[in-house]
Amino acid sequence: PSIDEIVNLHDFEAVAKAILPAKAWAYYSSASDDEITIRENRAAYQRIWFRPRVLRDVSVVDWSTTILGQRSSLPVYISATALGKLGHPDGELNLTRAAGKHGVIQMIPTLASCSFDEIVDATVPGQTQFVQLYVNRDREITRKYVQHAEKRGVKGLFITVDAPQLGRREKDMRMKFVDESGVAKVQENQSGVKKDEGVARAISSFIDPSLSWKDIPWFKSITNMPIVLKGVATPEDALMAYDYGLAGIVLSNHGGRQLDTARSGIENLIEVVAALKTRGPWPNPKFEVFVDGGIRRASDVLKAIALGASAVGVGRAFMYSFCAYGQEGVEKAFQIFRDELEMNMRLIGARTIDELSPEMVDASAIHSH
Ligand code: FNR
Repeated sequence: PSIDEIVNLHDFEAVAKAILPAKAWAYYSSASDDEITIRENRAAYQRIWFRPRVLRDVSVVDWSTTILGQRSSLPVYISATALGKLGHPDGELNLTRAAGKHGVIQMIPTLASCSFDEIVDATVPGQTQFVQLYVNRDREITRKYVQHAEKRGVKGLFITVDAPQLGRREKDMRMKFVDESGVAKVQENQSGVKKDEGVARAISSFIDPSLSWKDIPWFKSITNMPIVLKGVATPEDALMAYDYGLAGIVLSNHGGRQLDTARSGIENLIEVVAALKTRGPWPNPKFEVFVDGGIRRASDVLKAIALGASAVGVGRAFMYSFCAYGQEGVEKAFQIFRDELEMNMRLIGARTIDELSPEMVDASAIHSH
């Protein structure tokens, strides 16, 4: 279909599925084991209901916000997703260019299929990027990567902590690893690559499973970027992150690709925010909570923010948009978010992101199944 026929973010997924090579589709769409968590990521939002307010003069609504102190035209950032070139020859650059044009923040993946510098070089002046980190067993490689990112102007470090070992994405494992442009690029910099376990495993064997809280002071010593832990799931770990002086956490289960039957980020948000409120008023300018997983609608975004998140991350929906239509697809995905945000904010009675509050949602049924 032509891009004009795309009405919502689900449509990109259908196009991507139809046009992608089987291996790329398997890598992007797969989740771990029985794929219960990926299903839950969508379902949990559908158990939250709105409590809209009326008669609030919603003629002007504004969905722009700040994320880690950086301006963002959307309350949504592009989360790190590896191996963009499996789905489109321009890979991650589709995201960079669209994000630069529209004031959206991109998180650059460690396992991007374009090089880090190629991605940063594709930015426009004033464009904000974050970087996602898989911590290498060789900490010198990690130190250089982080410091290079900071030097290149990256404004936030997201350390992925939910992947000491890659989950078994069985769809992906059934596709034998064949060398392809995107994968080859990533391989160049890594050692110990195994070729028979699917794309995900093949590229990730350098990740250090010994990573622990004891390493956190070291990260703080090598960079001045705000540090966020990506892949936290509990109030216990949220409080640890806070007490270690980090800048925030992403409540995430890696898009259902890691621990299957882990709860969804949105389900964990309520108890995490309740715990953080014991450290001071919420929102807390020193610590931000983000949520990702399953976000396909502006209504999902607004629910997470109403419940205390500062912004949300989106992975697959943006990937599928560039697989289908390149940069233009990503721009269209932003437009869909804008249109849906405008309508939903009006219908909820929130003129700004700050006006979203817990009273605007009924999450009392979120844990029932
Ligand atoms: C991911 N994700 C991810 N996360 C990360 O920290 N490093 C990575 O390299 C990747 N790679 C990756 C590849 C693909 C194909 C997917 C789908 C996801 C997880 C990603 O950042 C985010 O947490 C989820 O994608 C959010 O869920 P949705 O939006 O895909 O439902």
